[in-house]
Amino acid sequence: MSDDQTEQTGDRLIDPIAQAPGYEQTETRIAVNGHPIHAMSVAFPVALSFCLLGADLLYWWTGDTFWARAALWAAGTGFLFGMLAGFSGTAELLLVRGIRARAAAWTHAIIAVTLLSVLGANWGHRLYGYEEAVLPYGILLSALGALMVGFTGWHGGKLVFDYHLGTSKGN
Ligand code: HEM
Repeated sequence: MSDDQTEQTGDRLIDPIAQAPGYEQTETRIAVNGHPIHAMSVAFPVALSFCLLGADLLYWWTGDTFWARAALWAAGTGFLFGMLAGFSGTAELLLVRGIRARAAAWTHAIIAVTLLSVLGANWGHRLYGYEEAVLPYGILLSALGALMVGFTGWHGGKLVFDYHLGTSKGN
């Protein structure tokens, strides 16, 4: 056994993590009729994070209070729907052995929780004066949130499309 925990037998490398019981078991368990709840719920925080940045930019450009109020709502609903998505993702991560065994799933969880803290901070920052909160810190937090939601969503997509995590094998 070498330091990186791989073992060479002849010309085949064996990854000991891939030998873990249940490694191949990656089907979703938090689902409605085989449709994963996490995949269905992530659309809301993703879209609302971009709406939030858009509303902040429009407030900066026009000075219209409407956009500052829209940004407050986008921040709050983005955070709350993000928390819901986070609960379903965490349940999937902890309950499905093949997902729990893969480092990439934990990387996604860490990026996602960091994103949720940025969304929560952004909402909290606006609660006691949503108009003056926009410039400069609100819009900076929104830009960071949009960047991070891009990373989180892209990485989550890799889990599904590259590793086939949380999918259903069908009957
Ligand atoms: C906070 C804890 C989170 C955990 C532990 C988590 C875990 C996972 C896991 C295990 C998957 C693979 C598919 C599945 O099993 O359902 C996944 C997919 C995905 N996640 Fe998360 N996630 C979390 C939060 C988030 C958040 C907040 C977002 C976006 C705002 C997000 C975006 C995505 C996307 C876009 C996919 C791909 C879905 C698809 O294309 O079907 N995740 N996540």
